[in-house]
Amino acid sequence: MSAARVQPVVLALPGNAELAGGLARRLEAVDGAVTVRRFPDGETYLRIDTAVAGRTVLLASTLDRPDDKLLALVLLAATARDLGATRLVLVAPYLPYMRQDARFQPGEGVTSTYVGRLLSSAVDGIVTVDPHLHRHRSLADVLQVPGVCVHAAPEIAAWIARHLPDPLLIGPDGESAQWAAAAAELAGAPFTVLAKTRHGDREVEVSVPGLARWPGRTPVLVDDIISTGRTMLAAVAHLRGLGTAPPMCVAVHAVFAGQAYRDLVDAGARVVTCNTIPHPSNAIDLHDLVADGVRALLGGGDG
Ligand code: R5P
Repeated sequence: MSAARVQPVVLALPGNAELAGGLARRLEAVDGAVTVRRFPDGETYLRIDTAVAGRTVLLASTLDRPDDKLLALVLLAATARDLGATRLVLVAPYLPYMRQDARFQPGEGVTSTYVGRLLSSAVDGIVTVDPHLHRHRSLADVLQVPGVCVHAAPEIAAWIARHLPDPLLIGPDGESAQWAAAAAELAGAPFTVLAKTRHGDREVEVSVPGLARWPGRTPVLVDDIISTGRTMLAAVAHLRGLGTAPPMCVAVHAVFAGQAYRDLVDAGARVVTCNTIPHPSNAIDLHDLVADGVRALLGGGDG
């Protein structure tokens, strides 16, 4: 006779209640309660209000704007461990700092590696969605604990196939090619990639894509991240200059620094993102896939 299943507990960092609730439902886990607030001096107060002793704990915390979130996450993980949690899994649909994956200028830090190390020191496993792996070949290059990467391409492809007639998928730069190509293949659509030159944080140029090969297609720009929006904006302006239909911008991670979203909409683009970071543009739900990722990490048991 098999032992009774001990339900995992999901704890949400502020702003992650929907993710946590979705995980709890899909994984038949307890949707736990946590109190997180600031002491008057600005330090973080934390209290776990659900019993975690002897249980696997899933920490739901997407990590956009990470500098405000990382300490609370590390403190919550330490508290859960102290209260007897047997295994800690971070579910961070957006993994931050991954684009700083090299020393581009003398004296810079390779902060993707340091953040990976920090997270690995806090938890026993990490589930994330399409981390920006470019110079790092896999999550194992940045983490010292097991990691599972969930891929958004099947859901992006399904959304495109459902909503856009005759799409032409376009990667706005070489680094985006892997995401755009995977979605194009799954959507059965043609695919091309623009050449991008980035001159600074907000200065981006793209090259001619030779669109004449696909007349009448709806251009769909697909990228992993929209941050300042400059990559998408340059691509949108370029396509508009060639007289295409208003381009659709599809991204996995809706980081949207500052006015990026407004700027894209004002430039005539339609914008759709996955729900790895809560944002009004979220239209592609990845929570089923994220729950599958957690199951894969836990190896089918409850942990
Ligand atoms: C980088 O190569 C990524 O694939 C994205 O193209 C990039 O991070 C987007 O950044 P931004 O929105 O700031 O142009």
